[in-house]
Amino acid sequence: MSHTILIGAQWGDEGKGKVIDVLAQKSDYIVRYQGGNNAGHTVRIASNKFVLHHIPSGILNPKSRCIIGNGVVLDLDAFFDEVKMLESRGVSVRGRLFVSDRAHIIFPYHRLLDQLREERKGAGKIGTTKRGIGPCYADKASRLGIRICDLLNPRVFQRRLAEALEEKNELLKKIYHYKPYSFEALHKSYAFLRSKIKPFVCDTHLLLEEAGRKKKRILFEGAQGTLLDLDHGTYPYVTSSSATAGGAISGSGVNPSKIDGVIGVVKAYTTRVGEGPFPTVFPKALLKKIQTLGEEFGATTGRPRRCGWFDAVVVRHAVCVNGLTKVAVMKLDVLDTLPEIKIGVAYQCQKKKIYHFPADLEILEKAVPIYETMPGWQTPTTAARKVGDLPKNARNYLLRLEQLIGVPIWIISVGSDRSQTIVVNGKL
Ligand code: IMP
Repeated sequence: MSHTILIGAQWGDEGKGKVIDVLAQKSDYIVRYQGGNNAGHTVRIASNKFVLHHIPSGILNPKSRCIIGNGVVLDLDAFFDEVKMLESRGVSVRGRLFVSDRAHIIFPYHRLLDQLREERKGAGKIGTTKRGIGPCYADKASRLGIRICDLLNPRVFQRRLAEALEEKNELLKKIYHYKPYSFEALHKSYAFLRSKIKPFVCDTHLLLEEAGRKKKRILFEGAQGTLLDLDHGTYPYVTSSSATAGGAISGSGVNPSKIDGVIGVVKAYTTRVGEGPFPTVFPKALLKKIQTLGEEFGATTGRPRRCGWFDAVVVRHAVCVNGLTKVAVMKLDVLDTLPEIKIGVAYQCQKKKIYHFPADLEILEKAVPIYETMPGWQTPTTAARKVGDLPKNARNYLLRLEQLIGVPIWIISVGSDRSQTIVVNGKL
């Protein structure tokens, strides 16, 4: 496959970083196309742990080139912190990391507004990462955003920043009773960042077009997950970008007819960070146990993730809106000790049984999951390296997931290390 999209098929944090790392070894280009530094992709190589928020995880493969596409919102301070971290750990980025001149910039006022809006909402908050993602995409849609190419042009930047601040400062003063930003101070600090970012910037869709012509293998690295997608997720408890496969097209400028595979990543159970409905959430004791076993704490904010049973309704929705061609099932080993395992197969909504994911959150909040229960395997799987090494009940569980979602399982992960990966060749 030459153009592959990799997508989170639940509420994010599925373990995409590890799958990307595996795939990156066979990819010439890795492209981030949406979101910003709200993402947190963790990759473990032997005893080294890397957490990347902005830069594609594929940067850890020295042969790959990495692109931050036009659909990404970029926090320049966070970007340079990451460049510094990678370089200090011996990962070269210069000449192999490219930033789209059309990507929008996250400014300090976006971060502040994200925080102030959340505080103002009180109990009704979204539970954002407070990285300024929503306010930055809102400015993009309102045509008040500032792109990398605008920063590179001092005259345009001066004008655009003045226009943006005029509105933001009014908002801050009148609605939030907060002190306004100084144009001069912001202008000065971004003039400094202008020369720093310049060597990374290019028209990345042209780079991708050329790569396509040369038959290079391109991997599109999705951030967050389908249920956090602005259109297809649990709105308003979503992020502000297109975290589904369609986002890879608009967020990179790649020709859609080139895409030849969409891989979904799921956990063997479900997790969610932030607010919003979660039908298959575990009862308290099991929640604590899986949070600990699965180290379910956000890579970006450190917040504990809510955990629950695998929800086939959610993943079928992801299969449908992304056109998934295969899936990777992560963290199977976290379920190793459970005597029995449930799978949510449908929802009971008052007198109706539903098999699709509802748009109306009131329906979702009242939905009672219908479960199938399977026996656990109660045997460690962390040393398994091929399907045949897995206990029979674990294989049966995976087979049932495959049947319920209607897409073949291609990778099974049984631990955080690169080596703890099973590639399914043929049938389970
Ligand atoms: P925002 O993207 O910071 O605006 O947050 C909106 C929602 O998306 C919140 O529920 C966040 O917790 C969630 N979110 C954003 N990024 C991620 C991620 O990378 N993994 C999981 N949840 C995320």
